[in-house]
Amino acid sequence: MSILTILEFPDERLRKKAVPVKNLDNSHQQLIDDMLETMYHAGGIGLAATQVNIHLQILVIDTSEEKNAPLCLMNPQIISKEGAFEYKEGCLSVPEVFEKIIRPSNIIVKGLDRHGETIEIEAIDLLSTCIQHEMDHLRGKLFVDYLSTLKRQRIKTKLEKMHRLESKE
Ligand code: NI
Repeated sequence: MSILTILEFPDERLRKKAVPVKNLDNSHQQLIDDMLETMYHAGGIGLAATQVNIHLQILVIDTSEEKNAPLCLMNPQIISKEGAFEYKEGCLSVPEVFEKIIRPSNIIVKGLDRHGETIEIEAIDLLSTCIQHEMDHLRGKLFVDYLSTLKRQRIKTKLEKMHRLESKE
């Protein structure tokens, strides 16, 4: 397994739309293992393939306290959503930024597990938020897009400054 490089906002590659996974093979299993390792290493609770510059509809999530309940979902589709849940979201592609976002609290999502079997998940609150956040990545959307233009611009400036400092080190 290896740790993959995570793209950071405002990298334009985060705006690419992912395509559905077809013809599952070992390369996908390797990618899923690498994504899980990358997510755990970075201390995140979710990661979409888009964030590691692979534009396939694959996401991994682990919202458990013990970090021992990895979930992989491919080609996800939300089939129902209701309610509202507010959570201070963060993102491995937008480091050190946390903002309150309101999303549907209860969703049913359908997709494939890592072996290509169809699965349906009923998710509430944190898991629901996390799945929706990761699914947004797959269509090139980031949680900062829900904020005001002014706030998003401030975050962009802050991260660009951080990236300049990092590249000088
Ligand atoms: Ni994210």
